[in-house]
Amino acid sequence: MRPSSDTGERHPAGRPPGPSYQGSSAMGPARGRRSHEGAAGAAYRGAVRHHAPAAERNRGPLLEVLRRVLADRRDVLEIASGTGQHAAWFARALPHLRWQPSDRDPEALASIEAWRAEAGLPNLAPARALDVGALPWPVEHADAIVCINLVHIAPWSSAVALFEGAARLLPDAAPLATYGPYRFAGRSAPSNDAFDASLRAQDPRWGVRDVDDLAALARRTGFDLEEVVPMPANNHTLVWRRGPA
Ligand SMILES: C[S@@+](CC[C@H](N)C(=O)[O-])C[C@H]1O[C@@H](n2cnc3c(N)ncnc32)[C@H](O)[C@@H]1O
Repeated sequence: MRPSSDTGERHPAGRPPGPSYQGSSAMGPARGRRSHEGAAGAAYRGAVRHHAPAAERNRGPLLEVLRRVLADRRDVLEIASGTGQHAAWFARALPHLRWQPSDRDPEALASIEAWRAEAGLPNLAPARALDVGALPWPVEHADAIVCINLVHIAPWSSAVALFEGAARLLPDAAPLATYGPYRFAGRSAPSNDAFDASLRAQDPRWGVRDVDDLAALARRTGFDLEEVVPMPANNHTLVWRRGPA
């Protein structure tokens, strides 16, 4: 088993990022209902609804932050949605939002669509195929972006692309919320250090990112770090805000 930095708020190592990371701890697969499917949904009809226990655990604390940060928002783009559990949960809890899930992984897209079919929510859009590194993103409009557990399980170039893509898409004063384990001035919880080592052992391009490095990157793309919210299991939500161009 991979090193786990805390309470298991981690995604398994040894597999490429994607819903297959759910592994054997996932709840039994469920089949998506055939109703509520849009054009994209039809392509994923009957797909397996993957389940990540970590997403189940962190969705409540994340919702508390997002409810506040997204209170005056309308169109939210979620990058790297993974299973789709978060998308279904947040769309249901925040009905004033239109939630656009996305991922680059076809299996993730199928799982998101299965969760969407099961949820049957009018404010949850069909999953969009989106590789954060492929700019420009195939999204016309968003006034907020949410990205949970990506930048440490991806090369640094994905973090660069995340901010560059967000800068292109978001209007002034729009938030970008990122969640995961972080370093602060080089330091992190011992559990995150162990997790970092396990990530780098899988792929030397991965690793727990330092908030100072992200902040420098953010400034170059017009974002300021507005808020650092401590979360359970040594994670943080970072709220970045796009300043005037
Ligand atoms: C650790 S999972 C997190 C999923 C979900 N946000 C969560 O917290 O449960 C990382 C996700 O990032 C996606 N991903 C990795 N690289 C990506 C990229 N370049 N563009 C978009 N998604 C990517 C993977 O397919 C996977 O679904």
